[in-house]
Amino acid sequence: MQSPVQLASTDFTMQSLLLVLQVLAHLGNDDFVEVITDVCVLVGAEDKDVCEGAISREGPILAHDLRNMVIPSHTSTLFCGTIFGLCDYPDITEYTVQFPSDKPANATRPARAEKRLFKLFISATSTSTFPTRREPSTSTVNYNCTKNICCRPYTSSDAPGNTSYPAGPFGNNKCDSPVDLEESMYKAIQSFASDAAFSIFTGDVVEGAVWLVNETEVTNDLNDAFSTRMPSYLHTVYGVVGNHDAAPVNSFPPADVETTISSQWVYDTLASDWTQWIGPTTAAAVKHYGAYSVKYPGGNLKLISFNTQLYYKENFWLYEKTMAPDPSGQLAWLVNELDAAESAGERVWLMGHMPMGASDAFHDGSSYFNQIIQRYEATIAACFYGHTHKDEFEIAYADNSSPSADTATMMSYIAPALTPTSGNPTFRVYSVDPVTFGILDFTVYIANMSSSTYQTNPTWEKYYSAKEAYGSLLSPAITDSAAELTPEFWHNVTTLFEKNDTAFQDYVARKTRGWDYSSCIGDCKTGEICQLRAAESQYNCVEITPGINFKRAKRSTSGAALHQQSTCGESVIGVMFSNFEGAVEAIGKAAEKLGSSFLDASVNSTLS
Ligand SMILES: *[C@@H]1O[C@H](CO)[C@@H](O)[C@H](O)[C@H]1NC(C)=O
Ligand SMILES: *[C@@H]1O[C@H](CO)[C@@H](O)[C@H](O)[C@H]1NC(C)=O
Ligand SMILES: *[C@@H]1O[C@H](CO)[C@@H](O)[C@H](O)[C@H]1NC(C)=O
Ligand SMILES: *[C@@H]1O[C@H](CO)[C@@H](O)[C@H](O)[C@H]1NC(C)=O
Ligand SMILES: *[C@@H]1O[C@H](CO)[C@@H](O)[C@H](O)[C@H]1NC(C)=O
Ligand SMILES: *[C@@H]1O[C@H](CO)[C@@H](O)[C@H](O)[C@H]1NC(C)=O
Ligand SMILES: *[C@@H]1O[C@H](CO)[C@@H](O)[C@H](O)[C@H]1NC(C)=O
Ligand SMILES: *[C@@H]1O[C@H](CO)[C@@H](O)[C@H](O)[C@H]1NC(C)=O
Repeated sequence: MQSPVQLASTDFTMQSLLLVLQVLAHLGNDDFVEVITDVCVLVGAEDKDVCEGAISREGPILAHDLRNMVIPSHTSTLFCGTIFGLCDYPDITEYTVQFPSDKPANATRPARAEKRLFKLFISATSTSTFPTRREPSTSTVNYNCTKNICCRPYTSSDAPGNTSYPAGPFGNNKCDSPVDLEESMYKAIQSFASDAAFSIFTGDVVEGAVWLVNETEVTNDLNDAFSTRMPSYLHTVYGVVGNHDAAPVNSFPPADVETTISSQWVYDTLASDWTQWIGPTTAAAVKHYGAYSVKYPGGNLKLISFNTQLYYKENFWLYEKTMAPDPSGQLAWLVNELDAAESAGERVWLMGHMPMGASDAFHDGSSYFNQIIQRYEATIAACFYGHTHKDEFEIAYADNSSPSADTATMMSYIAPALTPTSGNPTFRVYSVDPVTFGILDFTVYIANMSSSTYQTNPTWEKYYSAKEAYGSLLSPAITDSAAELTPEFWHNVTTLFEKNDTAFQDYVARKTRGWDYSSCIGDCKTGEICQLRAAESQYNCVEITPGINFKRAKRSTSGAALHQQSTCGESVIGVMFSNFEGAVEAIGKAAEKLGSSFLDASVNSTLS
């Protein structure tokens, strides 16, 4: 078998594969879904039920893309790279974001203003639950299944009472978060952060078994999470829309795409759920594409929540004939909101789901977004994201060719997840300057799944604080509780990682909150540090690899796998093509029943 790298260079092979899939798409959604499902099963990409569920949901969107695609084009190369992992990333299409005003020559980030500070609770991404509604029996469901997410009664032998591997009431590493775990976290927040001023929720309510999820379930889950379960001591909760908060998963069609598969109901549901915190006028804006901008009533801060799925590679609606530089006009809206904040002398927090420097973010959209960050760096105090489930961060630079403390301009804080699949369940509490809204520190709390009392009474404990863990190792040391954690601070932390490998390996362990980690050396370490220094995805050193699957990930002892951004929501289609020749042969076999000689010929030309 040829390696994916060799295949990527044989552009002709890839383009002809896309042509075959395009022919298939023109036969109609039903035929497309049927053939691709057969292929998925034939190549053993996933269990049959996963193939059927995932492709029946996502297949029609891919078929829509293929029908409209010009082959070859920027879109087709991008599609081949990000969905199949079989082509290199195309070059960015240059685009200049328009600003209503020039960056003021004297624009500077305000210095620490107040001796006082306040606390802010930020919940992790992903509170999805298994099964999604509370049932007394969930704790006895099987956790030892063949899929990436277990703890659901997929078969009668997984069912309560029939399995030797019961998950336990607080779940385990193969489960989404049970409701009991979520409630346990809320109680811990109350005890550790009773003085918190407000809360941020960085998205993803809905479960990881994406091949089972439908509109009814997503609607119920969103209502349940936001309107029923979040306790009043979280105060105001500022939420963002996650890629899982739709059905099909990741489906967020931009405004100019004509389709019957709308996610308007997601925006309407969130607008209704969030009205209690942001008010009806702001909530009305959520109905456009899930974004809003709201003034914090307790200070000179504007919170802007935006929909990162409009730049997400798994949102298949974005693969338009000509890629839209600004889907739904969200970037222009962001610019207007930021310009108004700058004129009013307000500070801004930007909140989204997917970190904009992650490998999941389109290079193009990430680059355009970064123009906005650089223009308004003095106004934006920090950015907040979730999605990766890991405890990590990203630094933006004025000059990506020479990242340094002097050119570091913006911090993206990436909150780790409650969801136990990614490590020990966790949440963060930030200390914030109440005037500048700069971040002074954050403290991470965890519940240790390896503790013998985890299933009876999970104990939440302080894991580490950023300033305690890293500030004391810098020279000069930064330990003053009033000192802001600036982009310069974080750049110096990455320099520390280069010099002090113990400090770096500690960071690696913290990514999963001390759960199942291995040391990260050589290319793994270089890649990690590169990624920390990239808020623009084209610079994050993550290379395209054939798709990630829903089955349990195999671990690499060298830690090399760590650097790959494995998140939830990847398409099953990518997995099918990890064995390219096998997949092409399977397409031929599966398409036989359609009796299309043109298709047959296309397959043969691809194989030759
Ligand atoms: C920057 O200059 C403008 C115009 O001279 C002035 O209004 C503004 O207050 C200055 N801002 C800062 C942060 O010094
Ligand atoms: C899962 O089940 C298999 C037997 O079917 C067993 O060998 C394995 O140890 C179990 N794994 C865990 C984590 O319990
Ligand atoms: C447990 O397994 C038995 C035998 O396969 C089956 O008849 C029964 O329905 C299963 N129980 C549940 C709750 O699914
Ligand atoms: C959605 O899925 C649930 C099972 O999770 C099912 O009971 C329900 O009928 C489905 N609804 C629709 C509209 O398909
Ligand atoms: C960062 O490191 C530089 C060079 O070592 C040093 O001059 C500067 O004070 C440090 N800044 C912070 C915020 O740690
Ligand atoms: C390196 O970092 C570790 C903490 O991870 C610390 O204990 C040690 O003192 C540091 N070494 C130096 C030379 O600063
Ligand atoms: C979790 O508990 C286990 C067992 O007591 C222990 O070995 C491990 O170090 C703990 N992990 C953390 C992050 O505290
Ligand atoms: C495709 O190839 C198969 C054998 O590999 C052959 O039997 C078939 O006739 C070919 N179809 C066309 C249309 O060339």
